[in-house]
Amino acid sequence: MASTVDVIRVLELYSGIGGMHFALLESGLKYEVVAAIDINPVANKIYAHNFPQCKLLEIGIETLTVSWLDDLRIDMILMSPPCQPFTRVGKKRDCEDGRTRSFLHILNCLPKLNNPPSYILLENVRGFEVSKTREWLISTLEECNYQYQEFLLTPLQFGIPNSRCRYYILAKRAEKFAFQTDSVRADLPYLATDWLVHKETSSAPLKSEIPESLQLFLNPWAKYGQIMHQAEDEEGHIYPGCKTLSAFLEDGTVEYFSEFLIPDKLLHLFIVIDIVLPFHRKCSCFTKRYGRFIQGAGSAVQMSYDAEALEAAYNLKTNAVEMKNRSGWGDEELSVIRKLKLRFFTPTEIARLLCFPESFSFPEATTTHQKYRVLGNSLNVHVVSILIRLLVLTTTDVSSHS
Ligand SMILES: C[S@@+](CC[C@H](N)C(=O)[O-])C[C@H]1O[C@@H](n2cnc3c(N)ncnc32)[C@H](O)[C@@H]1O
Repeated sequence: MASTVDVIRVLELYSGIGGMHFALLESGLKYEVVAAIDINPVANKIYAHNFPQCKLLEIGIETLTVSWLDDLRIDMILMSPPCQPFTRVGKKRDCEDGRTRSFLHILNCLPKLNNPPSYILLENVRGFEVSKTREWLISTLEECNYQYQEFLLTPLQFGIPNSRCRYYILAKRAEKFAFQTDSVRADLPYLATDWLVHKETSSAPLKSEIPESLQLFLNPWAKYGQIMHQAEDEEGHIYPGCKTLSAFLEDGTVEYFSEFLIPDKLLHLFIVIDIVLPFHRKCSCFTKRYGRFIQGAGSAVQMSYDAEALEAAYNLKTNAVEMKNRSGWGDEELSVIRKLKLRFFTPTEIARLLCFPESFSFPEATTTHQKYRVLGNSLNVHVVSILIRLLVLTTTDVSSHS
């Protein structure tokens, strides 16, 4: 079994654009990704662009054989199987969904391996923890003598102002976890809290971050309960330790952002759009539908700080919410909303919120929609890097540092 000083041989399944690979990089462990596998050619081009040396296979995971897996002598499997069969808003077809087939194949292979990996990390959506597929996973892990710990974690707990609550499971063989295992945890073990580098020391917004025209507006804003900023996501929690969004936003001219302006056909959804400003400490989860859709697909950035435009928009929204009626909306209302200059987050900003390093890039031919799709499918690199460190941490590591 690999110890933390050996090079860990990693198999990255459902590798997409390499979120897991970037998390390994951030973890500081010595590793080698011996193979990355995904069927999506667009994601694979992006993966290969960022990790040109890595062996990347464009094949269905259901075609992998036990002997091929054994011959790889892997220490660790990192994987994020397709999440559509488990999403709260989806049909929840679970193990009946054809998209779960390849994952069930891996579960079938695991007990047959002569060289099972010492470590497994899986990421999926919230909802996976109550699925039949999860029951199948747990019974397979138990059959193969793995210990495991499940988590439901959001980047907001890590100081990153982005809702993306996800299910994670860490499993290891032979060696004990360095922390007490429990049922599904919604927090990190105490020993990992020092690793939360994204937390700010101060929770107060810097005054200079709030433009003067907006400071005038803060009192009525508080009175209306931040009406423009939907707080329903993740139980309405605001984590005061989060960085402000300004740390993740691009600097750009009006012209630069013109490609990202929200079109009129989506502005009609004004009252359900989560509108954020740079000093906010939260934005909603970006899905692969972002860019073509806005409702439930991610937040919008408000570029205007014009106090009159804001007041008019607040009034419009307050009235619309109270009347529960938007059927009469026409050009007049749209012109009020247009003045807010709402735009989509750019792919670069989303990559930053997902904690991809600045070195991450897309091949030139990637379209904006393709970027939104693959980012929406990906994961938070920083959260996973901390979980990888927890996975390999031994009780000996802990006692030698205490
Ligand atoms: C949730 S995404 C994983 C994203 C990845 N972790 C990342 O950082 O981009 C699921 C991925 O599984 C891939 N996939 C789905 N079914 C597959 C199969 N049968 N074999 C191989 N890859 C598959 C999809 O193309 C998609 O990229």
